[in-house]
Amino acid sequence: MTELAQLSRTAYQAQQIALRLSMAAAHAGLRLVMGRKRIPSAADLLALRRRLEELHARDLEHVERGDYPRELLFQLPLREYASHVPKLSAEVLRMLQRAKRGKVRDFPPQIDLSRYPEYFRRNFHWQSDGYLSRRSAELYDFGVEFLFLGTGDVMRRQVIPPISQFLRESPGEKRILDVACGTGRMLHQLSRAHPDHRYSGVDLSPFYVDRARELLSGLGVSLLVDNAETLPLKEASFDVALSVFLFHELPRRARKNVLREMRRVVDPSGLVVIEDAAQLNDSPELRVFLENFSLEMNEPFFSGYLAEPLETDLEEAGFRVESVEPAFLSKVVVARPV
Ligand SMILES: C[S@@+](CC[C@H](N)C(=O)[O-])C[C@H]1O[C@@H](n2cnc3c(N)ncnc32)[C@H](O)[C@@H]1O
Repeated sequence: MTELAQLSRTAYQAQQIALRLSMAAAHAGLRLVMGRKRIPSAADLLALRRRLEELHARDLEHVERGDYPRELLFQLPLREYASHVPKLSAEVLRMLQRAKRGKVRDFPPQIDLSRYPEYFRRNFHWQSDGYLSRRSAELYDFGVEFLFLGTGDVMRRQVIPPISQFLRESPGEKRILDVACGTGRMLHQLSRAHPDHRYSGVDLSPFYVDRARELLSGLGVSLLVDNAETLPLKEASFDVALSVFLFHELPRRARKNVLREMRRVVDPSGLVVIEDAAQLNDSPELRVFLENFSLEMNEPFFSGYLAEPLETDLEEAGFRVESVEPAFLSKVVVARPV
């Protein structure tokens, strides 16, 4: 290993430990207030720790194998997140109150909910305004890092290696679509890893898409506000379609609709990569954490999702599943149209 590689390995490990310790302290405080639905055993905690260590080891390996550039290891906007600590702390208090009162659909009257499907009209993770305000979009990225102890972007970029392999095997400019792109953090990392391709993103939240526009400005990414169940996009108009952390928030009917649309817009020679929460078929050792997430985070479709493997839905939608890789609390599923 070169000196540079060794140095960045050490810097990376120091960064991850610092993130984990500071956030774990806040988590511990929250646990005292909220309690847990189910208490993890020592074996559960060990399994979780193993998955975390594997994630970090893989992240470094991917850089060393050239799947994505080293700069991605250090691209979290830590200063911006630090400046959001007061706002996120106030938001966590609001979330706790909402959870305590069981207010699963707590929206200010000015938000027009009628434009959205029923399943979308709720405060996922108890967050204020659900996905439907600027303040929600502004706090979302830091909130995800906080929830996952600084591994949000690390988990997201585990989608890149199969895409890198596809791009190596099939040269030329490719059209790449992120379905439910949210605030754009996946597209940001992917377009830095592979700048010479055409990127698009679609999301149902206009506020999250506005935020993505800010993050991705100047990168030539085309962004759309629309429902992934009925994409306003032509058949076979993309070489790669990906999606990160969408499916666990959808009822099964909507999951199938989105997969059908991904199958339609991806070229028959193309690739589909989906990352979402681990499921019980691949990660039974994480059961207590996955079930707690379902019980504690206002995620009404998560328990169904846990028991209904994404792989089965992909096959039913006309894909052949090529691989399933763990990524801490999530998994990355790679599939091809059949
Ligand atoms: C948990 S967030 C994940 C966002 C992003 N992919 C990420 O990595 O952070 C779920 C996203 O799905 C979007 N979403 C939910 N239902 C959708 C639908 N039917 N069509 C398009 N986007 C949807 C939400 O607006 C939100 O941005």
